[in-house]
Amino acid sequence: MKIIMNLILNTLLTYILFTSSIKAQQKYSGNSVMSCNSSDEDAPDESFLYSCNGLNHSCRAFLTFTARYPYNSVPIIAALTSSNQYDVAQTNNITRFTVFPTDRQVIIPVDCSCLGLYYQANAVYQIPTALETYFIIANNTYQGLSTCDTLKSANNYSQFDLVPGLELQVPLRCACPSRETNCRGIQVSADLLSWLG
Ligand SMILES: *[C@@H]1O[C@H](CO)[C@@H](O)[C@H](O)[C@H]1NC(C)=O
Ligand SMILES: *[C@@H]1O[C@H](CO)[C@@H](O)[C@H](O)[C@H]1NC(C)=O
Ligand SMILES: *[C@@H]1O[C@H](CO)[C@@H](O)[C@H](O)[C@H]1NC(C)=O
Ligand SMILES: *[C@@H]1O[C@H](CO)[C@@H](O)[C@H](O)[C@H]1NC(C)=O
Ligand SMILES: *[C@@H]1O[C@H](CO)[C@@H](O)[C@H](O)[C@H]1NC(C)=O
Repeated sequence: MKIIMNLILNTLLTYILFTSSIKAQQKYSGNSVMSCNSSDEDAPDESFLYSCNGLNHSCRAFLTFTARYPYNSVPIIAALTSSNQYDVAQTNNITRFTVFPTDRQVIIPVDCSCLGLYYQANAVYQIPTALETYFIIANNTYQGLSTCDTLKSANNYSQFDLVPGLELQVPLRCACPSRETNCRGIQVSADLLSWLG
C-alpha cells in the first residue's frame, strides 16, 4: 500500500514538474550548467535560471534531488537546499531522520520567487573542502539545480577565493506555473494535501 501510494505521489509530482516546465516554455537547456563564462549583460540567458515569466512572482515549488552520499539524509539534504526538514519529511512521507538509499529521488519543497529576471529559491552553502569550484558546486553538489554562471553572479568571489568555511549564496532553479498550469497545479496540490492528511 505504501509503495503504491508513493508511486502515485511520485508520478503526480513528476507530472506537475514536467508539465510546469513544458508549459512555462522556459529556454533552459540541460547543458547550460556547464557554461561558466556568460556575462550578466547577456541575460536572460539559458546558462542562468528560468526566466520570470509565470503568472505569479512567488509560489511554493518542488525540486527533485537524488540522494547520494554524503547528501543522503533528510537533515543534510534540507541543509544543503536551505529547505525545512519537517516539510521535506512530510512531502516525502518519511521521518525527519530518514537516511535514503543511494539514488532515491527526494522531493524538496522550496519557496520560489522572482529576483530580477529569474525565478529562484535561495540556499546558502558553506564550502567544506579546499577542492571546490563554482562548476563542481553547481553540477556535482547541487546536481544542476544551480548553474556555474548563476553562482558566479550571485557571489562576489573569484574562483581562487573559494576557501573552506566561506558561505556562498546558491540560487536554485525553480519556476512558478504559467496561467495554463495554474488550475491543474492547484487541483493536484489539493489532492496531495488530502493524502498527506
Ligand atoms: C506514509 O507512511 C506511512 C508509514 O510508513 C504509511 O502507513 C502511509 O500509508 C504512507 N502514506 C502515503 C501517502 O504514502
Ligand atoms: C564561453 O565559452 C564558449 C566556449 O567555451 C564560447 O563558445 C562562448 O562564446 C563564450 N561566451 C562568452 C560570453 O564569452
Ligand atoms: C497567483 O496570483 C494570483 C493573482 O495575483 C492569485 O489569485 C493566485 O492565488 C496566485 N496563485 C498561487 C498559486 O500563488
Ligand atoms: C556533473 O555531475 C555529474 C553527476 O555528479 C557527473 O556524473 C559528471 O561527471 C559531472 N560533469 C562534469 C563535467 O564533471
Ligand atoms: C565586489 O568586490 C569588488 C572588489 O573586491 C568590490 O569593489 C565590490 O564593491 C563588491 N561588490 C559587492 C556587491 O560586494
